[in-house]
Amino acid sequence: MNLYRCSICGEVYAGDEKPSHCPFCGAHVGLLALAKDYVEKNIGAEISEKSKDFLEQTLKLEITASRFYRGVSKKTKNAEVQGLFKYLAKIEKEHADVVCKLLGIDLPDEVMGVEDRFETDKENIEESLRLEKRAAEIYSGFLKNVTEERLKTVFSALIQIESDHIKIDEEELERL
Ligand SMILES: [Fe+2]
Ligand SMILES: [Fe+2]
Repeated sequence: MNLYRCSICGEVYAGDEKPSHCPFCGAHVGLLALAKDYVEKNIGAEISEKSKDFLEQTLKLEITASRFYRGVSKKTKNAEVQGLFKYLAKIEKEHADVVCKLLGIDLPDEVMGVEDRFETDKENIEESLRLEKRAAEIYSGFLKNVTEERLKTVFSALIQIESDHIKIDEEELERL
């Protein structure tokens, strides 16, 4: 069994082969490598004031998403929708954690909160779709405006991951 470590979130996965996506933050396979080759890039990164503002906005979006997804996962009666939102809640929490490491702050407890929005699974998935599209769009704007290499890598990864979530939501809506 091998140990693989994600270059975005820094979490470790043990398995015979690399997973197609990081099980913790959703980063694509190209961002995973053997744990022995890991280099820490989130803690102690030099960040400009403007980029700090982008990261703070990112943190807010990820916290809001995680709380909402946790809320839906606890409420829905549909096992698949529950699985989807349980998955998304964890991934967005991991994103919040990455951002906090870059900002040099502790992950706020509120990320583990629960937020209720809509009654039906369909409405909740549509809301998720809105959140994911908005996040992908906002992060694309940040990507164009950051100068730090580390932040370019992180925002590119986040855009890919949120785009995956858009796909998962769209597929789920079709199945409902
Ligand atoms: Fe990861
Ligand atoms: Fe997402």
